[in-house]
Amino acid sequence: MTLKYILVFIVLCVNVNCKSTYKICVPVQHLKACEDMLEVPTKSKAILECIPARDRVECLNYVQQRQADLVPVDPEDMYVASNIPNQDFVLFQEYRTDEEPDAEFRYEAVIVVHKDLPINSLDQLKGLKSCHTGVNRNVGYKIPLTMLMKRSVFPKMTDREISPKENELRAFSTFFKQSCIVGKWSPDPKTNAVWKSEYSQLCALCEHPDKCDYPDNFSGYEGALRCLAHNGGEVAFTKVIFVRKFFGLPVGTTPATPSTENPDQFAYLCVDGSKKPIRDKPCSWAARPWQGLLGHNDVLASLTPLREKIKQLAEAGKTERPEWFEKVLGLSEKIHHVADNIPIKPMDYLNKANYTEVIERGHGPPEPVVRLCVTSSVALAKCRAMSVFAFSRDIRPRLDCVQEASDEACLKSVQDNGSDLAGVDALKVATADKMYGLHPVFHEVYENKQPKYAVAVVKKGSNINNVDDLKGKRSCHSSYNTFSGLAAPLYYLISKNKISNDQCIKNFGEFFSGSCVPGIDKPENNPTGMDVSRLKQQCSGASSGVACLEDGRADVAFVSSAGLKDLSADEYELLCLNRENGGRDKLSNYPICNVMMAPSRTWVSAKDFLSDVSIAFTPLSLAELLETKTDLFNIYGEFLKNNNVIFNNEAKGLATTEKLDFDKFKNVHDVMNACGVKV
Ligand SMILES: *[C@@H]1O[C@H](CO)[C@@H](O)[C@H](O)[C@H]1NC(C)=O
Ligand SMILES: *[C@@H]1O[C@H](CO)[C@@H](O)[C@H](O)[C@H]1NC(C)=O
Ligand SMILES: *[C@@H]1O[C@H](CO)[C@@H](O)[C@H](O)[C@H]1NC(C)=O
Repeated sequence: MTLKYILVFIVLCVNVNCKSTYKICVPVQHLKACEDMLEVPTKSKAILECIPARDRVECLNYVQQRQADLVPVDPEDMYVASNIPNQDFVLFQEYRTDEEPDAEFRYEAVIVVHKDLPINSLDQLKGLKSCHTGVNRNVGYKIPLTMLMKRSVFPKMTDREISPKENELRAFSTFFKQSCIVGKWSPDPKTNAVWKSEYSQLCALCEHPDKCDYPDNFSGYEGALRCLAHNGGEVAFTKVIFVRKFFGLPVGTTPATPSTENPDQFAYLCVDGSKKPIRDKPCSWAARPWQGLLGHNDVLASLTPLREKIKQLAEAGKTERPEWFEKVLGLSEKIHHVADNIPIKPMDYLNKANYTEVIERGHGPPEPVVRLCVTSSVALAKCRAMSVFAFSRDIRPRLDCVQEASDEACLKSVQDNGSDLAGVDALKVATADKMYGLHPVFHEVYENKQPKYAVAVVKKGSNINNVDDLKGKRSCHSSYNTFSGLAAPLYYLISKNKISNDQCIKNFGEFFSGSCVPGIDKPENNPTGMDVSRLKQQCSGASSGVACLEDGRADVAFVSSAGLKDLSADEYELLCLNRENGGRDKLSNYPICNVMMAPSRTWVSAKDFLSDVSIAFTPLSLAELLETKTDLFNIYGEFLKNNNVIFNNEAKGLATTEKLDFDKFKNVHDVMNACGVKV
């Protein structure tokens, strides 16, 4: 800074107030939107500054460490924040609706029954027909479960032979006679189908019991009431505002609207078993608090300019709703009334609504956990962050983290029941099976939810159409120790009986007229000193795989689909060796035109312990939740400046591993072993 600027700065400071710069933390993907926000003119002269972080989880750490001053949060983030050691967070503004600007909570969970239902205690809900908003939702599922499981008449959910989620479904289906709980019960499609048939009473009251999914006329806040009023339901779990709308009563600032439903036929059921008329103030079990703005304790020293600035921005953006309105401030079309509250610690804020116990809901002691084995202190920190985050979003079993010195030590730990899951790369998944008796449960997927594939790339207009055309041609490969470069084409040629499997490397070299398999001649890869000259004949300098093909040193390149994005679709295409009659297709069609699927980073578990459904549930649910919300927690992003921590940076999601695919990889592994190729 030059002297002149320093002087200007001091003058500004005197005029408006030195404390009036505030650093708002923003997920880096929304930094541009944040900078747009800074351009918005407001009466307030308070200055905001955009501080980019990986995601909201990192923002919480930034605020705690004073690298930023504030960040918008959901109630679940407040729970995560409360778990950060030495935190001094305060919630200083609430985001409410124009419809209910004075309401204490965003919504309150209520039970609605027919007014003459002969019950005077919650215990007597047993055996009734129940209507819910949908699986895993707050007022229709999580809150009733939290409250009912405290009662001794509610079935225990501690059967460790089945997963926590299945325990919940079983308890509901035993407690109620029939229900409608739509939605995806498991992130694994097969498990979902099995449960839907096993616990079909939970779908019996739905409009489409066989589908038991959205959209269903008897699901959602209003649907649960329709289910109660018109589909034989005896009790409905929903929220107050929809009860009032359904029965044509005024809501906050909105006047009454006509309705054909009669509120006098129904009543709220209170926790003590008493009933209250629908027209009166309801009795609720728990509430979901508003979202809001979280800062560190020091912002309290100069809060007014900041609060004014935020209110003016909310006002400025509410009609057009530019990107920053939602992505940076966390406001929305419905929720944009910014209200000052007496600054409160996030945990106290949640407790006021009984929401902490909803978040912390368990299944009865001993609570099940799923233990993930990691091999570094950074991975341990990331695992713990994922654990708190997943827990705050009602994902069970809770994730626990175990650190071991190496991948092998982790496999051993899973084998010895010291942990439940360990991650392995490429064909090591087969080693995990052979040496440690483990089996795969789920794996990473990449662009478009696809695994990677081993592919064969040729020049567009090439006369190569099938495997037989490849004979005598020149080939380039990605390096020796890659699946796509060597294992896949070698296994392919052997399994199609194009080369015999004794002396496979020699035969492989002779199938082509000359090749480049980088690394084939390294002593550790060729301990017996075979003649591998044909397999390095086309190598030159450092160029391998695709670059080698581009240099014109081969007619075909065996590479991973991950490397195709750098290649021109005008000049190259794929050879479909996976198809009976071969053929060629464009580069982007690698999922249907390839050599074979490649093994992704895969997590393995022990055969005899906790069921896979239970083990996979937590990571799969977390991945599914974050699929479209990486700004909440980008679990595939760099962590504390490290790459590929637990997951590869290029991963986009997780999926259950099919046995068929795994068996194929085991075969490749065995064939490579027999050929003396290290995997
Ligand atoms: C939903 O159910 C109600 C009550 O049975 C019925 O009046 C309404 O027409 C249904 N709506 C649809 C879209 O099926
Ligand atoms: C919290 O629980 C108590 C006791 O069960 C209940 O009286 C109160 O209404 C609940 N609070 C909310 C906001 O629902
Ligand atoms: C595995 O370890 C857990 C945690 O120590 C224990 O609760 C469980 O009973 C063990 N399972 C087996 C099959 O030994």
